[in-house]
Amino acid sequence: MKRKRGRLGLASIAVVLAAALLLIFYTKDTGKLGDMINGWLPSGQTEAGHAGEAGQGGGNSTVQPGAPSAQPDSSAIPEPAGDSGTGLSPSDGDQPVSSDSGQGAEPTSKPSSGAGQAGGSENGMAVIAQPESIAALVNKQNKLPEDYNPNDLVYPDVRFIFTEKVDKRKLRKEAAEALEQLFAGAEQDDIYLAGVSAYRSHSTQKALFERYVKRDGLEKARTYSAYPGTSEHETGLAIDVAGSDGKCAAADCFGGTKEAKWLAGHAFEYGFIIRYPKGKEDITGYQYEPWHLRYVGADIAKDIQESGDTLEEYFDAVQVTG
Ligand code: DAL
Ligand code: ZN
Repeated sequence: MKRKRGRLGLASIAVVLAAALLLIFYTKDTGKLGDMINGWLPSGQTEAGHAGEAGQGGGNSTVQPGAPSAQPDSSAIPEPAGDSGTGLSPSDGDQPVSSDSGQGAEPTSKPSSGAGQAGGSENGMAVIAQPESIAALVNKQNKLPEDYNPNDLVYPDVRFIFTEKVDKRKLRKEAAEALEQLFAGAEQDDIYLAGVSAYRSHSTQKALFERYVKRDGLEKARTYSAYPGTSEHETGLAIDVAGSDGKCAAADCFGGTKEAKWLAGHAFEYGFIIRYPKGKEDITGYQYEPWHLRYVGADIAKDIQESGDTLEEYFDAVQVTG
């Protein structure tokens, strides 16, 4: 009797085990057990690992929602050609010198619209179709074509904080002539200006940007230096300006100087704008740069002076977060 009950007991256990096995195989096939097993795995094994894109936005998330993924990460940036260690301010101060040059055609007229100038896209950024336009909108969303070189660069006849006849003295012809007028107009008001840095070739901007990334990291560097292909200095239409003593050249302490005040009040009369104004960092994507002048022509400069808009706002090209 005892043995019979024991056999029955064993048979019951076998039946229960078989039922349990059947249940496990059933739930595995329907995915339920798979879900449970996945739930036990470390979370790093899921596909949520896009953390590498975070932190590349340069602190401008309200303006450039697309920018972080559009920019290569710092590890993809090749090493700079050289590190001159000038000790100048982190902004546009000094940079490696290259020998790009060229003379030629007159600049063309403004585009039908600033933001609508896209001629394609690259890495999530629009490629500017009319880079030679005086009104071209060059920023973190709109880049110059890879092979663009302005073909009417000249040396403006104005004072610089250095004496060498190098590329960074150059501007496009129309901007150079306007700058000469601006410097002369300033002198009539007893304001003595000096150029700091004007044209940069693509390779020079690349070397400069890489140097800053190496020094400050990508996120910080992007708040004051443009990724190669997106700097107005590559257009030959931008110049950084200081007082003739060169103090505070492309540095924060330039703000509030009599030269900075004069530029803020008068640059537009000569077709220039203060491209990166105070309080508009979220729109331009860059810190306040009272020294960075951009030539856009007298009409646009006047409109922008009167409205207080940035070039992005002027062209209704401010990115909106979703
Ligand atoms: N400092 C400005 C943003 C430039 O690098 O072009
Ligand atoms: Zn500049």
